[in-house]
Amino acid sequence: MLVVSIGGSPSPRSRSGVLLERSRQWLEHRGVEVVTLQVRDFPAEDLLHARFDSPHVQHFQQLVAQADGLIVATPVYKASFAGALKTLLDLLPERALANRVVLPIATGGSIAHMLAVDYALKPVLSALKAQETLQGIFADDSQIAYAEGNKPAQLAPALEERLHDSLETFHLALARRPRPVAPGVLNDRLISARWSI
Ligand SMILES: Cc1cc2nc3c(=O)[nH]c(=O)nc-3n(C[C@H](O)[C@H](O)[C@H](O)COP(=O)(O)O)c2cc1C
Repeated sequence: MLVVSIGGSPSPRSRSGVLLERSRQWLEHRGVEVVTLQVRDFPAEDLLHARFDSPHVQHFQQLVAQADGLIVATPVYKASFAGALKTLLDLLPERALANRVVLPIATGGSIAHMLAVDYALKPVLSALKAQETLQGIFADDSQIAYAEGNKPAQLAPALEERLHDSLETFHLALARRPRPVAPGVLNDRLISARWSI
């Protein structure tokens, strides 16, 4: 099982990144392969000039094509999700998320914009034909403390519980995801079928 996780924060010291990292650890502990990409690691020119043919963008497209599911994490910026993340999602082909499960994660300075995922990010995921977009997680900044020295990042207990519940749901959704039949196998099945309707 492959999960591609995308960090949408321009900042390396990122609270949404903390949640993404916790999610990676949780999933890998259960045998799920996780590849993490950060929007800030893409060349800015590729994103701003929408270079569909850049090697970085093509690698991203291939990873998404192989993925069973995605985790998309973003800070709330100006009552929406991060613009840099939008420039990356814009480079995915139509139907890129078909047959895929998506878990959105957002962090914001306050709960005022906690619905940004619902009214801003989910329509984009839906336009990319995500098969199932889960409820997702919103955390405000007071619930996440950065790592300091040897001390790992800390989550408020209520957030930790919500994150684990969401990952549990995500894991189950990945497991029951209908897998598309490979064209060769479909052909064999049609040839050997005894009944047709
Ligand atoms: C440019 C900018 C715009 C922001 N706009 C909002 C906003 O509209 N609503 C909000 O709740 N928080 C806003 N914030 C706060 C961030 O969403 C919040 O600190 C978030 O946790 C940052 O995530 P990160 O650490 O992963 O980058 C803004 C922060 C910045 C830098």
